[in-house]
Amino acid sequence: MKKYTILLLNGPNLQLLGMREPEIYGRTTLADIVCQVRKLGGELGCEVTDYQSNVEGFLVDRIAQAYSEKVDGIIFNPAAYTHTSVALRDALSAVKIPTVEVHLSNIASRDEFRHNSLTLPVSLGVIAGFGADGYLLALRALVSYLGKQEQRQTVKL
Ligand code: DQA
Repeated sequence: MKKYTILLLNGPNLQLLGMREPEIYGRTTLADIVCQVRKLGGELGCEVTDYQSNVEGFLVDRIAQAYSEKVDGIIFNPAAYTHTSVALRDALSAVKIPTVEVHLSNIASRDEFRHNSLTLPVSLGVIAGFGADGYLLALRALVSYLGKQEQRQTVKL
């Protein structure tokens, strides 16, 4: 049996990875990223499910569904919605599922409108600027966090 269930969630235009501005986002496709995260997930004892949408409301729905499914953690690249979506922030706040935000690019070094993330304050933290590797780093960070939470709960019992 798998230890943790993880949702890998990707927002708008990330289905275009590979051809989309490769000088910024690299040449790795989303399918390759999903494959790599699933593989590492298997090694770390996680079952990874993935979902990508260009539609804000569908992402909101998927976060609510993750709550019903009792998903343990979310790796989330909200893409452009990072900078605009109160709805996604509220969804993450509502479900309180530990979430690590990922950006392929270093959003702090890009256009000013990309510097602010509405979703980051309700996430555990962010990994940005490491390209596709950021998703793997996020998975390791999430699994480490979940392991520590589990230990704390065992000590309390
Ligand atoms: C992104 C950064 C966002 O500003 C942008 O809108 C994206 C991708 C990233 O992964 O670097 O679509 O989230």
